[in-house]
Amino acid sequence: MATESKRQKPKSRAAAKKPARKVVKLASAKKPAKKANGNGLPKPSNKPYGQAGLALQGVRILDFTHVQSGPTCTQLLAYMGADVIKVERPGAGDITRGQLRDVPGADSLYFTMLNGSKRSITIDSKHPKGMDILNRLIKTCDILVENFAPGALDRMGLTWEYIHKLNPRMIVASVKGFGPGPYEDCKVYENVAQCAGGAASTTGFREGPPLVTSAQIGDSGTGLHLALGIVSALYQRIRTGRGQRVLCAMQDGVLNLTRVKLRDQQRLAHGPLTEYSQFGEGVPFGVAVPRAGNDSGGGQPGWIVKCRGWESDPDAYLYFITQAPVWNEICDVIGEPGWKTDPDFATPKARLPRLKQIFARIEQFTMTMTKFEAMDLFNKHDVPCGPILSMKEIAEEQSLRATGTVVEVDHPTRGKYLTVGNPVKLSDSPADVRRSPLLGEHTEEILSKVLGYNGAQIAEIKASGAITAPDKSKAAA
Ligand code: COA
Repeated sequence: MATESKRQKPKSRAAAKKPARKVVKLASAKKPAKKANGNGLPKPSNKPYGQAGLALQGVRILDFTHVQSGPTCTQLLAYMGADVIKVERPGAGDITRGQLRDVPGADSLYFTMLNGSKRSITIDSKHPKGMDILNRLIKTCDILVENFAPGALDRMGLTWEYIHKLNPRMIVASVKGFGPGPYEDCKVYENVAQCAGGAASTTGFREGPPLVTSAQIGDSGTGLHLALGIVSALYQRIRTGRGQRVLCAMQDGVLNLTRVKLRDQQRLAHGPLTEYSQFGEGVPFGVAVPRAGNDSGGGQPGWIVKCRGWESDPDAYLYFITQAPVWNEICDVIGEPGWKTDPDFATPKARLPRLKQIFARIEQFTMTMTKFEAMDLFNKHDVPCGPILSMKEIAEEQSLRATGTVVEVDHPTRGKYLTVGNPVKLSDSPADVRRSPLLGEHTEEILSKVLGYNGAQIAEIKASGAITAPDKSKAAA
């Protein structure tokens, strides 16, 4: 794995006296880890849990990502301990730094919430000296992650063949909108992927148009898939000694998350989808899976019911699941004990055509209490249900702060902001959640400490324009 040049000790006194050299060590040249026992496996650490370093400590990532899908992936890997070096265009940076700005002059929350715990270096990849720097980074990093439009990385000269020759251990991970096929050259954003991946056609109400969901299943969802691909490739590299390409198409990622609807598409060939409320309403099914409103999508029927205050509070609702094992308890609580034995309601099959009636009755009951009171009451009876939480409520929820799922960080130009921490909890690797870097904040640090450039060389690079924004006054003259 990657090591910083400052950690490399000179072998002799003579070597120690020599001026600092550019030390770029090929990841493939590293010595194998010490074998501590007969079977070649290291002994279990005797450090207390949480003090044995982070899971991805020692892994270095050349992060060429922008907007959301790629940054989601690399931020998660940074939270897990990887050293993520984000390469940005001098003077401009990731376009999201300036998008949806709320604080004038400060990086937007769009950017800061997707690029925490990373370092930022500015490099013009189209400048010859910029390419020299990138070559060194490729040699010293374990993984390159990118989500440029199709062909952009190749146009920079960074083809797989080129990278693989320079560093055979490097893993090259990409997000693209589509995999190989008719649309492979297309640029794609979140909602395009939601539509092309089957999510939009199956979201919303039957009477309405297709609907996109606010959960960023195309961008963040694909970034998460990519992270899994990367750690799998890292694991395989231990055995094979070589890197590989990892590709996640957003269409594929969305489809993976919408797989239950492809399940239903095939079930349609064998008859109506009886758990869809459309069935109970007597509306015939067409050739494709319909939009199912708030139907549960699983084997236990569910729906969203109103709670007290719904007239003025748009989020005064509860998701309620009529799970079969607790049906009797539900009947008792809502005041319908007769439904426990009534043949029209007593079995899950009998209830399917009557879901609308059942949820209307449950709603009559839940409208007498707040969503939190309803949640407390039904939880006592083991009924799966959940309040519809607004973003305001989530931002204020102390239990999410306590677990590190919502984290407050401080930023030099925008001040304190909330970010989403690591949703994956590892018992031996606490999450490393820090603020996002300013544009080019770590350029010199990386040039000197990671890549081994000396002061004179850095000054020369600066003067060349490879790491600084073009001087507009000169261009105009
Ligand atoms: N120095 C010099 N040039 C740089 C650079 C750097 N450090 N970083 C980027 N660039 C250049 C690229 O080389 C490319 O130039 P080229 O097209 O002349 O070869 C250009 O900047 C921008 O790349 P591109 O990815 O085309 O940006 P875009 O803003 O036009 O498109 C997307 C944005 C998201 C639509 C597109 O990147 C895309 O489809 N990505 C894949 C799918 C994806 O991830 N989508 C979700 C995004 S959340």
